[in-house]
Amino acid sequence: MKLFVTGGAGYVGSHCVRELCNAGHTVVVYDNLINGGHKEAVDTRAELVVGDLADDTLLERTLASGAFDAVLHYAALLDVNESVHEPLKYYQNNIANTVSLLALMRKNDIKKMVFSSTCATYGVPLSVPITEDMPQHPINPYGRTKLAIEWALRDSADAWGLGSTALRYFNASGAASDGTLGEDRDPEYHLIPLVLQVALGQREQIKIFGVDYPTPDGSCVRDYIHVEDLGSVHRMAIESQEEAVFRYYNVGTGVGVSVKELIVAAREISGKDILASPDVRREGDPPELYADPTKAMTELGWQPKYTDIRKTIETAWHWHSTHPNGYASV
Ligand SMILES: NC(=O)c1ccc[n+]([C@@H]2O[C@H](COP(=O)([O-])OP(=O)(O)OC[C@H]3O[C@@H](n4cnc5c(N)ncnc54)[C@H](O)[C@@H]3O)[C@@H](O)[C@H]2O)c1
Repeated sequence: MKLFVTGGAGYVGSHCVRELCNAGHTVVVYDNLINGGHKEAVDTRAELVVGDLADDTLLERTLASGAFDAVLHYAALLDVNESVHEPLKYYQNNIANTVSLLALMRKNDIKKMVFSSTCATYGVPLSVPITEDMPQHPINPYGRTKLAIEWALRDSADAWGLGSTALRYFNASGAASDGTLGEDRDPEYHLIPLVLQVALGQREQIKIFGVDYPTPDGSCVRDYIHVEDLGSVHRMAIESQEEAVFRYYNVGTGVGVSVKELIVAAREISGKDILASPDVRREGDPPELYADPTKAMTELGWQPKYTDIRKTIETAWHWHSTHPNGYASV
């Protein structure tokens, strides 16, 4: 297939682009290289167009000239905390720019898309593991922007025949198994890189926000899905996508890991003391979030390879310890 990949220079997108290239697809990445994107992360078999989704002229020219079969849409802003303080920035980039992209897809008769959604669309779930039929009540602007696009995709299926899949990721984590791709954003706000920054001496300590949750050890429980497993589920979703249907899947391991467990595993793997100190709960942090990924497994035939947090952290440690300054280390 000929694939147009927004945000393909970012953390998740770059791993997926590699998977798509390995499978023989032709890939054009469209990325502004501003928020977490790095040109070094883009597979050399893919073409990189440096551009912003807000640049209608460049976007239209690129889409019109490509004869694309489908779009994989990763480009977005994703810092939950920032979204609370700068909601319009999120509504502009994640909703308005995506609506422009959809309009241009319609104009150019591109009727297949895979969309990076999130477990944040569920808000505080009624119970865990989370299944796809649970209510979606996001509790922050970031989650609301992603849910709004799910609605736009759903409505577009009947209205103009768009076939799309919303993949609701849990916590994307880990790095390429060969150590050549990984997470590199500034500021960093994801737990595993922050913990490993302490191991590398780049950060003094890691704070555990909340140690009195109703969880086995009192810290929050999350589902860490490896980026290479995200790569395979995107490939399977786009390869099986039909027009005029909207599908949605939870993509997680199904295994909940607490913050404390994660820190213990990171200490073992890095062989470093990682100073951790308890802190107060953060507003809006649900105690437990982990997926029931059965639907994606059954309908797409997907199977995550990384279900042991230690294996996932090993890949992250390989990347961070050999690239202490991210792609700038290369
Ligand atoms: N990382 C996670 O844990 C996680 C969890 C759930 C969902 N997601 C979703 O997955 C997607 C990818 O996340 P990521 O962690 O790879 O983030 P990232 O910031 O590493 O990648 C996003 C990429 O999109 C690009 N981009 C953003 N706005 C753009 C614009 N207007 N024009 C062109 N390029 C633009 C950025 O430069 C970056 O390369 C996002 O849509 C995010 O909401 C991520």
